[in-house]
Amino acid sequence: MSTDASGVGAPATGLPGGLLTEIDHVAIAVRDLEAAITWYGEVFGATVAHREVVGSDGVEEALLKVADSYVQLLTPVRDDSTVARYLETRGEGIHHVGYRVADCAAALQAVKDHGGRAIDQAPRPGSRGTTVAFVHPKSAFGTLIELVEE
Ligand code: CO
Repeated sequence: MSTDASGVGAPATGLPGGLLTEIDHVAIAVRDLEAAITWYGEVFGATVAHREVVGSDGVEEALLKVADSYVQLLTPVRDDSTVARYLETRGEGIHHVGYRVADCAAALQAVKDHGGRAIDQAPRPGSRGTTVAFVHPKSAFGTLIELVEE
């Protein structure tokens, strides 16, 4: 274990990213999913690798594969989804960043050990069979973080 300025040890994983193994996805909130898919396809030739309605979050997502990561286009399917509220208040744009981790529970615990605020108190099912947990942007320099275990 190494020790950071807060005096709490950081896990020594031997990897340069520590507990973060890859960028899993960058999620972009859009009002019109079809228009966004068409734009990424026509401009960049990007294709949809996976599409899913995530009922628990009230969103539909389309994942465009980019190397080993995804661009996740996200649109609300209900007015009370957090993405609907996000679009209302902030407009379209980057909604969250998904970091791939080997162990979602361990990464979430590391956030809590450092006094961070978890939105999900325990890992839960995400899209495409993943296990995920969200970290509050107030604990993470203004960026909503999703920890993604495949
Ligand atoms: Co996500």
